[in-house]
Amino acid sequence: MSNVQRIAQLQLTRRPRRNRQSAAIRNMVQETRLLVSDFILPLFVLEGEGIRSEVLSMPGIHRYSIDLLLEEVADCVALGLTTFALFPNLPESKKDKYATESFNPDGLYLRAVKAIKDRFPDVVVMTDVAMDPYSSDGHDGIVENGKIVNDPTLEVLGNMALAQAKAGADIVGPSDMMDGRVGYIRQVLDAGGFHDVAIMAYSAKYASAFYGPFRDALDSAPRFGDKKTYQMNPANSREALIEAELDYTEGADFLMVKPALAYLDVIKLLNDNFDLPIAAYNVSGEYAMIKAAARNGWLDGERAMMESLMAIKRAGANVILTYFAKEAAQVLKSA
Ligand code: PBG
Repeated sequence: MSNVQRIAQLQLTRRPRRNRQSAAIRNMVQETRLLVSDFILPLFVLEGEGIRSEVLSMPGIHRYSIDLLLEEVADCVALGLTTFALFPNLPESKKDKYATESFNPDGLYLRAVKAIKDRFPDVVVMTDVAMDPYSSDGHDGIVENGKIVNDPTLEVLGNMALAQAKAGADIVGPSDMMDGRVGYIRQVLDAGGFHDVAIMAYSAKYASAFYGPFRDALDSAPRFGDKKTYQMNPANSREALIEAELDYTEGADFLMVKPALAYLDVIKLLNDNFDLPIAAYNVSGEYAMIKAAARNGWLDGERAMMESLMAIKRAGANVILTYFAKEAAQVLKSA
């Protein structure tokens, strides 16, 4: 045994383990740190009062009626969260081919935006600019003869973005992955006097299997077909540069990659090539996977959560939209 030890005595100049030998040193040399200010928490709102209904495929995530949504925001603000991305769950009766409910100022979504901004003026509210939660076809654009049409949808999106800005939105997020969105919405917002409303472009959003639980949360799955004529092919990363370039040129304030974990290379690619803040959307399916495994006792959910968020930031995301935001804020606070 002692023989073995002597033989193994290497003459090494570099011993990277020296920088890992204690918690204090590891902490000192840590390259990436998660902060509560990195996170945006997506929230689901539904009609009614006193309602808090859990999304079955997203344990711990609820759809809230506006009254309870405000309580949830208050809890999150106490944990240091400042920014929320809001999505509406609408009954079928409010949906139509042209998503007209999306710009009804008395509709659920715009009332919710206004309620949050009235009660928490310093909170940043990000709204979603896409037709799917309001569309009877479950698609992000207008459907004509079985096709999702690009340009005719712009008018709806312009109305929607403008109505959201009027309701108090600080950031609008065009999420339909169709062409010319950012430039058109920028023009509409500016013409309406909303120069300060920012645009977070869903620049590289992939046609992903990881959106399943979100579509459950909103009952917004496409009624026919899929979203492959507008969302990107998961096989492509160079195409993400084209999308990002267009959004940059059209005036985006943030470029987003979505999903996050299976697309860390794309996050890095955009971070390397663009000087705008890069956002990553750690989507519903990514949340559900960790929750499901943790519930089965198959992995340590808290550690898997923090490690995933760290990986997204390390890859180059400055902003992370994540359903884990509240839980991660709790972990960071107690650390
Ligand atoms: C569509 C939209 C989607 C998500 C946010 N906005 C998915 C879709 O294409 O159906 C998904 C977010 C998630 O899965 O967490 N406008």
